[in-house]
Amino acid sequence: MMENELFDVLKKHGQEHIIEAYQKLDEAGKKKLAAQVEKIDWSIVAMACHEEHAQERGKLEPLSALEVSEIEKNKAKYEEIGLEAIRAGKVGAVLLAGGQGTRLGSDGPKGKYNIGLSKDVFIFERLIRNLLDVTDKAGCFVPLYVMTSDKNNDETIAFFEEKNYFGYPKDFVKFFKQEMAPSVDFHGKLYMEAADSLSLSPNGNGGWFYSMAVTGVLKDVKERGVEWLNIFAVDNVLQRIADPVFVGATLDSGCVSGAKVVRKAEPMEKIGVLCLEDGRPSIVEYYEMTEEIINSREANGDLSYNFGVILNYLFRVDQLEEIMNTKMPVHVVEKKIPYINEKGEMVKPETPNGYKFELLVLDMIHLFENCLSYEVVRDYEFAPIKNKTGVDSVESARALLQKNGVEL
Ligand code: UTP
Repeated sequence: MMENELFDVLKKHGQEHIIEAYQKLDEAGKKKLAAQVEKIDWSIVAMACHEEHAQERGKLEPLSALEVSEIEKNKAKYEEIGLEAIRAGKVGAVLLAGGQGTRLGSDGPKGKYNIGLSKDVFIFERLIRNLLDVTDKAGCFVPLYVMTSDKNNDETIAFFEEKNYFGYPKDFVKFFKQEMAPSVDFHGKLYMEAADSLSLSPNGNGGWFYSMAVTGVLKDVKERGVEWLNIFAVDNVLQRIADPVFVGATLDSGCVSGAKVVRKAEPMEKIGVLCLEDGRPSIVEYYEMTEEIINSREANGDLSYNFGVILNYLFRVDQLEEIMNTKMPVHVVEKKIPYINEKGEMVKPETPNGYKFELLVLDMIHLFENCLSYEVVRDYEFAPIKNKTGVDSVESARALLQKNGVEL
Protein backbone atom coordinates (compact mmCIF):
# COMPACT_ATOMS: atom_id res chain seq x y z
CA MET A 1 0.00 0.00 0.00
CA MET A 2 1.35 3.45 -0.95
CA GLU A 3 1.69 6.01 1.80
CA ASN A 4 -1.16 8.17 0.51
CA GLU A 5 -3.43 5.11 0.31
CA LEU A 6 -2.51 4.19 3.87
CA PHE A 7 -3.40 7.67 5.08
CA ASP A 8 -6.69 7.59 3.17
CA VAL A 9 -7.65 4.31 4.82
CA LEU A 10 -6.77 5.60 8.27
CA LYS A 11 -8.65 8.88 7.73
CA LYS A 12 -11.68 7.05 6.38
CA HIS A 13 -11.87 5.08 9.62
CA GLY A 14 -11.21 8.00 11.95
CA GLN A 15 -7.71 6.87 12.93
CA GLU A 16 -5.77 10.11 12.30
CA HIS A 17 -3.74 9.58 15.49
CA ILE A 18 -2.07 6.60 13.80
CA ILE A 19 -0.96 8.85 10.93
CA GLU A 20 0.65 11.18 13.46
CA ALA A 21 2.44 8.28 15.11
CA TYR A 22 3.52 6.95 11.71
CA GLN A 23 5.08 10.25 10.65
CA LYS A 24 7.43 10.18 13.63
CA LEU A 25 8.92 6.80 12.68
CA ASP A 26 12.02 5.80 10.74
CA GLU A 27 11.66 3.69 7.57
CA ALA A 28 11.68 0.33 9.38
CA GLY A 29 9.07 1.51 11.88
CA LYS A 30 6.87 2.89 9.10
CA LYS A 31 7.01 -0.40 7.27
CA LYS A 32 6.07 -2.36 10.37
CA LEU A 33 3.13 -0.14 11.29
CA ALA A 34 1.85 0.03 7.71
CA ALA A 35 1.90 -3.77 7.46
CA GLN A 36 -0.18 -4.02 10.63
CA VAL A 37 -2.71 -1.48 9.38
CA GLU A 38 -3.02 -3.30 6.07
CA LYS A 39 -4.09 -6.47 7.85
CA ILE A 40 -6.93 -4.84 9.77
CA ASP A 41 -10.45 -6.04 9.11
CA TRP A 42 -12.28 -2.71 9.44
CA SER A 43 -15.69 -4.33 9.58
CA ILE A 44 -14.62 -5.78 12.94
CA VAL A 45 -13.21 -2.52 14.29
CA ALA A 46 -16.51 -0.82 13.39
CA MET A 47 -18.28 -3.17 15.80
CA ALA A 48 -16.73 -1.27 18.71
CA CYS A 49 -19.08 1.61 18.07
CA HIS A 50 -22.20 -0.51 18.18
CA GLU A 51 -23.27 -2.11 21.39
CA GLU A 52 -22.89 -5.83 21.07
CA HIS A 53 -26.28 -7.43 20.92
CA ALA A 54 -26.51 -10.95 22.15
CA GLN A 55 -26.80 -13.20 19.15
CA GLU A 56 -30.40 -13.77 18.21
CA ARG A 57 -31.15 -17.36 18.95
CA GLY A 58 -33.24 -19.74 16.89
CA LYS A 59 -35.55 -22.39 18.28
CA LEU A 60 -33.83 -24.18 21.15
CA GLU A 61 -34.43 -27.82 21.98
CA PRO A 62 -32.60 -30.20 24.30
CA LEU A 63 -29.96 -32.51 22.86
CA SER A 64 -29.68 -35.77 24.72
CA ALA A 65 -26.22 -36.93 25.69
CA LEU A 66 -24.58 -40.31 25.55
CA GLU A 67 -24.52 -40.67 29.30
CA VAL A 68 -21.85 -42.22 31.48
CA SER A 69 -23.96 -45.30 32.28
CA GLU A 70 -24.42 -46.05 28.58
CA ILE A 71 -20.74 -45.37 27.84
CA GLU A 72 -19.70 -47.76 30.61
CA LYS A 73 -21.81 -50.56 29.08
CA ASN A 74 -20.13 -50.18 25.69
CA LYS A 75 -16.72 -49.04 26.87
CA ALA A 76 -14.75 -52.01 25.53
CA LYS A 77 -16.36 -51.71 22.10
CA TYR A 78 -15.83 -47.94 21.86
CA GLU A 79 -12.26 -48.19 23.08
CA GLU A 80 -11.43 -50.79 20.47
CA ILE A 81 -12.87 -48.64 17.67
CA GLY A 82 -11.00 -45.60 18.99
CA LEU A 83 -7.67 -47.40 19.38
CA GLU A 84 -7.99 -48.78 15.88
CA ALA A 85 -8.48 -45.26 14.49
CA ILE A 86 -5.52 -43.96 16.51
CA ARG A 87 -3.30 -46.81 15.34
CA ALA A 88 -4.33 -46.11 11.76
CA GLY A 89 -3.03 -42.55 12.26
CA LYS A 90 -6.47 -41.03 11.81
CA VAL A 91 -6.52 -38.99 15.02
CA GLY A 92 -4.61 -35.80 15.79
CA ALA A 93 -4.80 -33.44 18.75
CA VAL A 94 -4.81 -29.65 18.82
CA LEU A 95 -3.78 -27.82 21.97
CA LEU A 96 -5.22 -24.31 22.07
CA ALA A 97 -2.52 -22.39 23.88
CA GLY A 98 -2.65 -18.96 22.28
CA GLY A 99 -4.55 -17.30 25.14
CA GLN A 100 -2.98 -14.79 27.49
CA GLY A 101 -4.19 -16.23 30.77
CA THR A 102 -4.88 -12.78 32.16
CA ARG A 103 -7.02 -14.06 35.02
CA LEU A 104 -4.20 -16.26 36.24
CA GLY A 105 -2.04 -13.17 36.06
CA SER A 106 1.20 -14.87 35.15
CA ASP A 107 3.18 -13.47 32.26
CA GLY A 108 4.02 -15.91 29.51
CA PRO A 109 2.39 -19.11 28.34
CA LYS A 110 -0.16 -20.55 30.79
CA GLY A 111 1.23 -24.03 30.15
CA LYS A 112 4.48 -23.00 31.86
CA TYR A 113 2.66 -22.49 35.12
CA ASN A 114 3.98 -24.77 37.83
CA ILE A 115 1.17 -26.38 39.84
CA GLY A 116 3.44 -28.69 41.78
CA LEU A 117 3.69 -28.65 45.57
CA SER A 118 6.64 -30.85 46.46
CA LYS A 119 8.06 -31.01 42.94
CA ASP A 120 7.71 -29.27 39.58
CA VAL A 121 4.50 -30.10 37.74
CA PHE A 122 3.96 -27.81 34.78
CA ILE A 123 0.60 -27.56 33.07
CA PHE A 124 2.07 -28.55 29.69
CA GLU A 125 3.74 -31.53 31.36
CA ARG A 126 0.46 -32.67 32.90
CA LEU A 127 -1.27 -32.52 29.51
CA ILE A 128 1.49 -34.47 27.77
CA ARG A 129 1.33 -37.11 30.53
CA ASN A 130 -2.40 -37.45 29.90
CA LEU A 131 -1.75 -37.92 26.20
CA LEU A 132 1.02 -40.43 26.90
CA ASP A 133 -1.49 -42.59 28.81
CA VAL A 134 -3.31 -43.03 25.51
CA THR A 135 -0.31 -43.40 23.25
CA ASP A 136 1.22 -46.01 25.59
CA LYS A 137 -1.98 -48.01 25.33
CA ALA A 138 -2.24 -47.57 21.56
CA GLY A 139 1.44 -48.33 21.00
CA CYS A 140 1.83 -45.36 18.66
CA PHE A 141 1.98 -41.58 18.85
CA VAL A 142 -0.69 -39.05 18.03
CA PRO A 143 0.36 -35.91 16.13
CA LEU A 144 0.03 -32.93 18.42
CA TYR A 145 -0.49 -29.43 17.00
CA VAL A 146 0.06 -26.58 19.43
CA MET A 147 -1.54 -23.22 18.72
CA THR A 148 0.39 -20.26 20.10
CA SER A 149 0.29 -16.55 19.35
CA ASP A 150 2.84 -13.84 18.59
CA LYS A 151 2.78 -13.11 22.32
CA ASN A 152 3.90 -16.52 23.54
CA ASN A 153 5.14 -18.60 20.60
CA ASP A 154 8.88 -18.36 21.14
CA GLU A 155 8.62 -18.89 24.87
CA THR A 156 6.35 -21.91 24.40
CA ILE A 157 8.69 -23.58 21.93
CA ALA A 158 11.73 -22.80 24.08
CA PHE A 159 10.00 -24.40 27.07
CA PHE A 160 9.14 -27.59 25.18
CA GLU A 161 12.75 -27.74 23.98
CA GLU A 162 14.14 -27.14 27.45
CA LYS A 163 11.95 -29.89 28.91
CA ASN A 164 12.67 -32.28 26.05
CA TYR A 165 9.00 -32.24 25.03
CA PHE A 166 8.14 -33.88 28.35
CA GLY A 167 9.01 -37.25 26.84
CA TYR A 168 6.84 -36.87 23.73
CA PRO A 169 8.62 -37.36 20.38
CA LYS A 170 9.46 -33.98 18.86
CA ASP A 171 8.59 -35.23 15.36
CA PHE A 172 4.99 -35.52 16.44
CA VAL A 173 4.70 -31.95 17.73
CA LYS A 174 4.10 -28.92 15.50
CA PHE A 175 3.55 -25.34 16.61
CA PHE A 176 1.53 -22.77 14.70
CA LYS A 177 0.60 -19.19 15.43
CA GLN A 178 -2.93 -17.87 15.49
CA GLU A 179 -4.02 -14.57 13.97
CA MET A 180 -3.86 -11.31 15.91
CA ALA A 181 -6.58 -8.67 16.17
CA PRO A 182 -6.35 -4.96 17.06
CA SER A 183 -7.64 -3.44 20.29
CA VAL A 184 -9.55 -0.16 20.43
CA ASP A 185 -10.81 2.31 23.01
CA PHE A 186 -14.53 2.70 23.70
CA HIS A 187 -14.81 5.06 20.70
CA GLY A 188 -13.21 2.63 18.28
CA LYS A 189 -9.77 4.35 18.16
CA LEU A 190 -6.91 1.90 17.69
CA TYR A 191 -4.58 1.54 20.65
CA MET A 192 -0.82 1.37 20.18
CA GLU A 193 1.45 -0.76 22.36
CA ALA A 194 4.75 0.71 21.11
CA ALA A 195 5.81 3.70 19.01
CA ASP A 196 5.84 1.48 15.92
CA SER A 197 3.15 -1.06 16.79
CA LEU A 198 -0.60 -1.27 17.18
CA SER A 199 -1.86 -3.05 20.25
CA LEU A 200 -2.51 -6.52 18.88
CA SER A 201 -3.77 -9.53 20.76
CA PRO A 202 -4.72 -13.11 19.91
CA ASN A 203 -8.08 -13.18 18.11
CA GLY A 204 -9.77 -15.74 20.35
CA ASN A 205 -9.75 -19.52 20.15
CA GLY A 206 -12.26 -19.82 17.28
CA GLY A 207 -9.88 -19.23 14.38
CA TRP A 208 -7.67 -22.21 15.08
CA PHE A 209 -8.49 -24.21 11.95
CA TYR A 210 -8.12 -21.20 9.68
CA SER A 211 -4.73 -20.58 11.32
CA MET A 212 -3.74 -24.20 10.75
CA ALA A 213 -4.50 -23.69 7.08
CA VAL A 214 -2.74 -20.34 6.58
CA THR A 215 0.37 -21.38 8.49
CA GLY A 216 0.71 -24.56 6.41
CA VAL A 217 0.27 -26.94 9.36
CA LEU A 218 -2.87 -28.36 7.77
CA LYS A 219 -0.62 -29.83 5.09
CA ASP A 220 0.98 -32.00 7.76
CA VAL A 221 -2.47 -33.11 8.93
CA LYS A 222 -3.36 -34.16 5.39
CA GLU A 223 -0.03 -35.79 4.63
CA ARG A 224 -0.28 -37.90 7.74
CA GLY A 225 -3.81 -38.95 6.81
CA VAL A 226 -5.35 -37.49 9.98
CA GLU A 227 -9.14 -37.55 9.66
CA TRP A 228 -10.19 -36.35 13.12
CA LEU A 229 -8.88 -33.56 15.31
CA ASN A 230 -9.36 -33.46 19.07
CA ILE A 231 -9.30 -29.83 20.19
CA PHE A 232 -8.56 -29.08 23.82
CA ALA A 233 -7.81 -26.15 26.10
CA VAL A 234 -4.50 -25.63 27.84
CA ASP A 235 -6.02 -25.17 31.25
CA ASN A 236 -7.93 -28.37 32.00
CA VAL A 237 -5.21 -30.45 33.62
CA LEU A 238 -7.42 -33.51 34.15
CA GLN A 239 -8.76 -33.97 30.65
CA ARG A 240 -8.25 -37.08 28.56
CA ILE A 241 -6.73 -36.23 25.20
CA ALA A 242 -7.35 -38.33 22.07
CA ASP A 243 -9.45 -40.42 24.42
CA PRO A 244 -10.05 -43.67 22.53
CA VAL A 245 -13.45 -44.25 24.16
CA PHE A 246 -14.64 -40.78 23.08
CA VAL A 247 -13.19 -41.28 19.59
CA GLY A 248 -14.80 -44.71 19.31
CA ALA A 249 -18.19 -43.52 20.54
CA THR A 250 -18.17 -40.60 18.07
CA LEU A 251 -17.19 -42.85 15.16
CA ASP A 252 -19.82 -45.39 16.21
CA SER A 253 -22.48 -42.67 16.39
CA GLY A 254 -21.89 -41.61 12.78
CA CYS A 255 -21.71 -37.97 13.92
CA VAL A 256 -19.28 -35.55 12.27
CA SER A 257 -18.30 -33.96 15.58
CA GLY A 258 -18.31 -34.76 19.27
CA ALA A 259 -18.19 -32.70 22.45
CA LYS A 260 -17.28 -33.80 25.93
CA VAL A 261 -19.83 -32.48 28.37
CA VAL A 262 -20.41 -32.53 32.11
CA ARG A 263 -23.72 -32.70 33.94
CA LYS A 264 -24.66 -29.28 35.24
CA ALA A 265 -24.13 -28.78 38.95
CA GLU A 266 -27.23 -26.57 39.18
CA PRO A 267 -29.63 -24.99 36.66
CA MET A 268 -27.91 -21.58 36.69
CA GLU A 269 -24.34 -22.87 36.50
CA LYS A 270 -22.25 -20.55 34.32
CA ILE A 271 -21.40 -23.02 31.62
CA GLY A 272 -22.23 -23.16 27.91
CA VAL A 273 -24.91 -25.77 27.32
CA LEU A 274 -24.88 -28.06 24.31
CA CYS A 275 -28.34 -28.24 22.78
CA LEU A 276 -30.11 -27.98 19.43
CA GLU A 277 -30.84 -24.66 17.78
CA ASP A 278 -33.05 -24.84 14.72
CA GLY A 279 -32.25 -28.53 14.55
CA ARG A 280 -28.46 -28.13 14.56
CA PRO A 281 -26.08 -28.52 17.48
CA SER A 282 -25.36 -25.29 19.29
CA ILE A 283 -23.80 -24.02 22.48
CA VAL A 284 -25.88 -21.52 24.36
CA GLU A 285 -24.81 -19.59 27.44
CA TYR A 286 -26.99 -19.66 30.54
CA TYR A 287 -27.73 -15.92 30.21
CA GLU A 288 -29.08 -16.43 26.70
CA MET A 289 -31.78 -18.81 27.93
CA THR A 290 -35.14 -18.00 29.45
CA GLU A 291 -35.79 -19.06 33.05
CA GLU A 292 -38.34 -21.49 31.70
CA ILE A 293 -35.82 -23.21 29.46
CA ILE A 294 -33.17 -23.24 32.17
CA ASN A 295 -35.49 -24.91 34.65
CA SER A 296 -37.33 -27.22 32.28
CA ARG A 297 -37.14 -30.88 33.25
CA GLU A 298 -37.57 -34.24 31.58
CA ALA A 299 -40.03 -36.90 32.80
CA ASN A 300 -37.27 -38.51 34.90
CA GLY A 301 -36.63 -35.22 36.73
CA ASP A 302 -33.34 -34.38 34.99
CA LEU A 303 -32.83 -30.88 33.63
CA SER A 304 -33.70 -30.80 29.93
CA TYR A 305 -30.66 -28.61 29.25
CA ASN A 306 -28.38 -30.56 31.46
CA PHE A 307 -24.97 -30.79 29.84
CA GLY A 308 -22.25 -28.14 29.68
CA VAL A 309 -19.20 -28.13 27.42
CA ILE A 310 -15.62 -28.30 28.72
CA LEU A 311 -13.72 -27.28 25.56
CA ASN A 312 -12.79 -30.76 24.44
CA TYR A 313 -14.16 -31.49 20.98
CA LEU A 314 -13.64 -33.91 18.16
CA PHE A 315 -14.08 -32.66 14.60
CA ARG A 316 -13.88 -34.43 11.25
CA VAL A 317 -11.21 -32.77 9.13
CA ASP A 318 -13.11 -32.87 5.82
CA GLN A 319 -16.02 -31.06 7.50
CA LEU A 320 -13.67 -28.48 9.00
CA GLU A 321 -12.36 -27.74 5.54
CA GLU A 322 -15.87 -27.22 4.27
CA ILE A 323 -16.80 -24.69 6.93
CA MET A 324 -13.40 -23.00 7.14
CA ASN A 325 -14.41 -19.87 5.26
CA THR A 326 -17.82 -19.45 6.88
CA LYS A 327 -17.98 -16.17 8.80
CA MET A 328 -18.18 -16.75 12.53
CA PRO A 329 -19.66 -14.24 14.97
CA VAL A 330 -17.13 -11.78 16.38
CA HIS A 331 -17.37 -11.20 20.12
CA VAL A 332 -16.58 -7.67 21.28
CA VAL A 333 -15.08 -8.01 24.73
CA GLU A 334 -14.29 -5.27 27.26
CA LYS A 335 -10.71 -5.63 28.52
CA LYS A 336 -7.93 -3.82 30.32
CA ILE A 337 -5.64 -2.88 27.44
CA PRO A 338 -2.14 -1.54 28.13
CA TYR A 339 -1.27 1.24 25.67
CA ILE A 340 1.10 4.07 24.79
CA ASN A 341 -0.34 7.53 25.45
CA GLU A 342 0.31 10.74 23.47
CA LYS A 343 3.46 11.37 25.52
CA GLY A 344 4.79 7.94 24.58
CA GLU A 345 4.33 6.58 28.10
CA MET A 346 3.08 3.05 28.75
CA VAL A 347 -0.24 3.02 30.62
CA LYS A 348 -1.50 -0.12 32.37
CA PRO A 349 -5.16 0.50 33.20
CA GLU A 350 -6.75 -0.85 36.38
CA THR A 351 -10.21 -1.10 34.83
CA PRO A 352 -11.39 -2.00 31.32
CA ASN A 353 -10.55 0.77 28.85
CA GLY A 354 -11.57 -0.69 25.53
CA TYR A 355 -12.46 -3.66 23.41
CA LYS A 356 -10.77 -6.70 21.97
CA PHE A 357 -12.33 -8.81 19.23
CA GLU A 358 -12.56 -12.56 19.54
CA LEU A 359 -13.78 -15.59 17.64
CA LEU A 360 -14.84 -18.48 19.85
CA VAL A 361 -14.54 -22.19 19.23
CA LEU A 362 -17.97 -22.75 20.76
CA ASP A 363 -19.57 -20.95 17.80
CA MET A 364 -18.08 -23.57 15.52
CA ILE A 365 -20.38 -26.32 16.75
CA HIS A 366 -23.41 -24.77 15.09
CA LEU A 367 -21.69 -25.06 11.71
CA PHE A 368 -21.74 -28.85 11.98
CA GLU A 369 -24.65 -30.99 10.91
CA ASN A 370 -24.60 -33.00 14.13
CA CYS A 371 -22.57 -33.54 17.28
CA LEU A 372 -22.31 -36.39 19.75
CA SER A 373 -22.82 -35.02 23.24
CA TYR A 374 -20.57 -37.28 25.32
CA GLU A 375 -20.83 -37.18 29.09
CA VAL A 376 -17.76 -37.35 31.30
CA VAL A 377 -17.54 -37.31 35.07
CA ARG A 378 -16.60 -33.83 36.21
CA ASP A 379 -14.35 -34.94 39.06
CA TYR A 380 -12.33 -37.19 36.76
CA GLU A 381 -12.02 -34.99 33.71
CA PHE A 382 -12.63 -31.34 34.46
CA ALA A 383 -10.14 -29.29 36.44
CA PRO A 384 -9.77 -25.97 34.62
CA ILE A 385 -7.24 -23.44 35.85
CA LYS A 386 -8.51 -19.94 35.19
CA ASN A 387 -7.70 -18.17 38.47
CA LYS A 388 -5.13 -18.41 41.24
CA THR A 389 -7.66 -19.14 43.97
CA GLY A 390 -11.36 -19.89 44.31
CA VAL A 391 -13.51 -21.35 41.54
CA ASP A 392 -11.63 -22.96 38.61
CA SER A 393 -8.31 -22.17 40.14
CA VAL A 394 -4.87 -23.57 40.80
CA GLU A 395 -6.18 -24.58 44.23
CA SER A 396 -9.29 -26.39 42.99
CA ALA A 397 -7.36 -28.12 40.21
CA ARG A 398 -4.70 -29.31 42.66
CA ALA A 399 -7.37 -30.83 44.89
CA LEU A 400 -8.92 -32.65 41.93
CA LEU A 401 -5.56 -33.90 40.67
CA GLN A 402 -4.78 -35.29 44.10
CA LYS A 403 -8.22 -36.88 44.25
CA ASN A 404 -7.27 -38.65 41.02
CA GLY A 405 -4.01 -39.90 42.47
CA VAL A 406 -1.68 -37.41 40.76
CA GLU A 407 1.37 -36.57 42.88
CA LEU A 408 2.07 -32.89 43.10
P1 UTP B 1 -9.82 -18.64 27.94
O1 UTP B 1 -11.08 -18.19 27.36
O2 UTP B 1 -9.85 -19.19 29.31
O3 UTP B 1 -8.76 -17.46 27.82
O4 UTP B 1 -9.21 -19.70 26.93
P2 UTP B 1 -7.28 -17.32 28.36
O5 UTP B 1 -6.63 -16.34 27.45
O6 UTP B 1 -6.56 -18.63 28.53
O7 UTP B 1 -7.45 -16.72 29.81
P3 UTP B 1 -7.98 -15.28 30.29
O8 UTP B 1 -9.41 -15.19 29.83
O9 UTP B 1 -7.10 -14.26 29.62
O10 UTP B 1 -7.82 -15.34 31.76
C1 UTP B 1 -9.67 -21.01 26.76
C2 UTP B 1 -8.65 -21.71 25.89
O11 UTP B 1 -8.55 -21.08 24.61
C3 UTP B 1 -7.19 -20.72 24.37
C4 UTP B 1 -6.55 -20.60 25.73
O12 UTP B 1 -5.15 -20.72 25.62
C5 UTP B 1 -7.24 -21.73 26.46
O13 UTP B 1 -6.66 -22.96 26.13
N1 UTP B 1 -7.15 -19.45 23.62
C6 UTP B 1 -7.84 -18.37 24.07
C7 UTP B 1 -6.40 -19.38 22.49
O14 UTP B 1 -5.75 -20.36 22.09
N2 UTP B 1 -6.37 -18.20 21.81
C8 UTP B 1 -7.04 -17.10 22.23
O15 UTP B 1 -6.96 -16.06 21.55
C9 UTP B 1 -7.81 -17.19 23.39
